[in-house]
Amino acid sequence: VRHIAVLTSGGDAPGMNAAIRAVVRKSVYHGLKVSGIRHGYAGLIAGEIEELDVGSVADIIQRGGTKLYTARCPEFQTSEGQEKAVEMLRQHHIDGLVVIGGDGSFRGARALSHRGVRTIGVPGTIDNDLPCTDYTIGFDTAINTAIDAIDKIRDTATSHERTFVIEVMGRNAGDIAMIAGLAGGAESILIPEAPFNMEQVLEKLERGMERGKRHSIILVAEGVGKGMKIGEQIAQRTGWEVRVIVLGHLQRGGSPTAFDRALASRMGAMAVDLLIRGETSKMVGIRGTKLIATDIDEALDTAHEIDLSIYELAGVLSI
Ligand code: F6P
Repeated sequence: VRHIAVLTSGGDAPGMNAAIRAVVRKSVYHGLKVSGIRHGYAGLIAGEIEELDVGSVADIIQRGGTKLYTARCPEFQTSEGQEKAVEMLRQHHIDGLVVIGGDGSFRGARALSHRGVRTIGVPGTIDNDLPCTDYTIGFDTAINTAIDAIDKIRDTATSHERTFVIEVMGRNAGDIAMIAGLAGGAESILIPEAPFNMEQVLEKLERGMERGKRHSIILVAEGVGKGMKIGEQIAQRTGWEVRVIVLGHLQRGGSPTAFDRALASRMGAMAVDLLIRGETSKMVGIRGTKLIATDIDEALDTAHEIDLSIYELAGVLSI
């Protein structure tokens, strides 16, 4: 490989900049040419490609968002769009591509590698919803942001003796809700991976109130449904004062945690190593403390799993 390009695609995640920086600097370290593609696959099709050097990625390791911008690109899902992308890479003499993003971005990476472009995926999404890795870049920052919010809401919940429903992101995955709920001491956590019975949730809340609990926090993963609706159900049934807050895109921003910066740096560098070794259609992941590479095909065919023992523990600790 002589010329590597990097793009970010799909929802942004804190730590993507650290990953871009690692791809650029590791490439330069090995004497390779390196370019950045702006606006994900849309920018690739449009030819928004610019050569980067060591200085281009200075002062970004600590920044949230993505310096390369990101987009979701329906055109890239068509074979004409993919052909245009391959042609653009050929015109720029790019022979290795690093895609930082989530599962939609990896589907794009697979399509490109099937068309002969050496492509490596780096998992960047706050949702932590990818298989073949314990963590995705951005998840740690997002749960820390959520915890910070939960702690603040708890202050006012306690003062007013109110019940709060907090809706967090995660698309179809409950990872953010589960870990933030455990670490934030939520009274109940509702996630799509664990069937729940609203009646039991309400009974638990009522038992808590009978014991003298004066406030409760219920964490709802967006994959379960609207927090607003769940809040209404609780208010109707109990007659308590309930407030609902949707954390929304707050969870996508902010300076990445040390964990995310280190993870992104390691994963970005590994993507370059894989390209140097001539690999393609691989996704970088982490198992325990070790980085691993998995076939993108395998990753896309495997369902993301959540460790339900953590969910059960959160239930035990919030009796
Ligand atoms: O995948 C990241 C994510 O933030 C999900 O948690 C959420 O469902 C979705 O993106 C929101 O997408 P958008 O930013 O397009 O509203």
